[in-house]
Amino acid sequence: MGIANIEDLRQLARQLTEVFDVGAQDEGTLRANNADFNRIALMPRVLRDVSQRDQSVTVLGQKFDIPLILSPTGLPGVLWPNGATEGARAATAAGAGFCLSSMSTSTIEEIAKVATRPPWFQLYLMRDRVMSRALIERAKAAGYSALLLTVDLAMQGQRDRDVHNGLTMPPTFRASNVLDFALHPGWVWRFLTGPKVTLANLITPDQSDLFTIAGYVNSQFDQSVTWKDIEWAKTVWGGPLALKGILDPEDAKLAVDHGVDAVIVSNHGGRQLDGVRSAVSSLPDVVDAVAGRAEVILDGGVRRGTDVLKAMALGAKACMIGRPFLYGLASQGGVGVARALEIFRNEIDLALALSGSANLSKLDRSCIAWP
Ligand SMILES: Cc1cc2nc3c(=O)[nH]c(=O)nc-3n(C[C@H](O)[C@H](O)[C@H](O)COP(=O)(O)O)c2cc1C
Repeated sequence: MGIANIEDLRQLARQLTEVFDVGAQDEGTLRANNADFNRIALMPRVLRDVSQRDQSVTVLGQKFDIPLILSPTGLPGVLWPNGATEGARAATAAGAGFCLSSMSTSTIEEIAKVATRPPWFQLYLMRDRVMSRALIERAKAAGYSALLLTVDLAMQGQRDRDVHNGLTMPPTFRASNVLDFALHPGWVWRFLTGPKVTLANLITPDQSDLFTIAGYVNSQFDQSVTWKDIEWAKTVWGGPLALKGILDPEDAKLAVDHGVDAVIVSNHGGRQLDGVRSAVSSLPDVVDAVAGRAEVILDGGVRRGTDVLKAMALGAKACMIGRPFLYGLASQGGVGVARALEIFRNEIDLALALSGSANLSKLDRSCIAWP
């Protein structure tokens, strides 16, 4: 079967996708992230010259050829050997952005080496501020261009489907799931023969196995973080700063008041608090609250080129994509990531032509017809 869209890539990676398709609890927010895009209709215009189309954008002072940044995702090395370096290479070569997770399986420096444009770095502010500071300083030294602080993970969300499936990260081989693995000989081979998967950037007391590290990391999520800590991180970093995980317009205003340069409207891909609004339905209120004083980026549920047009027409500067990146990676490694981005590039281009808007960054709310 030919690969026509992002759903096809998901099917290709199927069963492996159980690990990361999962959302929190009843997965209402996860579904809403996708479904709410379908509730928004575009209003196409005709008889405009759309022969020269441009989908480049400038975000946090950096120019991208396509309006997409790969969202930070932990443990990509489980899906494909050197998953993060594969993703960074493919994304930056395609003219997209790449954001490295602090829970990644490749080091800050390895990513900087393979990326052909400066990557972004994502951090959870941890109890161990010496470690947080060290990570920020390493990213700075390696030439990263933006720091993203993820602020919607005071504790890890409850993911019921993981419990039902008996899924653990990293995967363990047990009698109950051996059939799943038997159906994926290619993945099992790559996992067993690839480089050892570790949380490569964290300075933990015991690096012997991922379970020990995961336990340590869980104990490090800091529930006492406040706006003061954002100011601290801004001072240590000294460059463009974004907060990832904002839904409430009042929080968006506070972010601006605390000197944040970009607000990333996100509910962590429906993996944290179930029952919160979708990312795209939160976007217009946040855009209005920020009123041009910071950039706004949409993260969550983007699966089609038309989703990107809708988000940008509602005021987003660019979109981030989490699972589409992982579908590509899990199915074909770096080639699959390139494929996912190519699908988006083509779909955005087609949508621009057919909606009568040659220039992506000139879209506004007149391009949206609410239901
Ligand atoms: C498997 C997986 C791991 C993730 N790890 C992180 C992470 O380490 N840091 C972070 O800020 N967000 C993480 N996220 C959330 C993504 O950055 C992003 O917000 C989300 O995937 C966007 O929704 P989408 O998958 O619908 O595009 C993760 C998401 C998934 C699916």
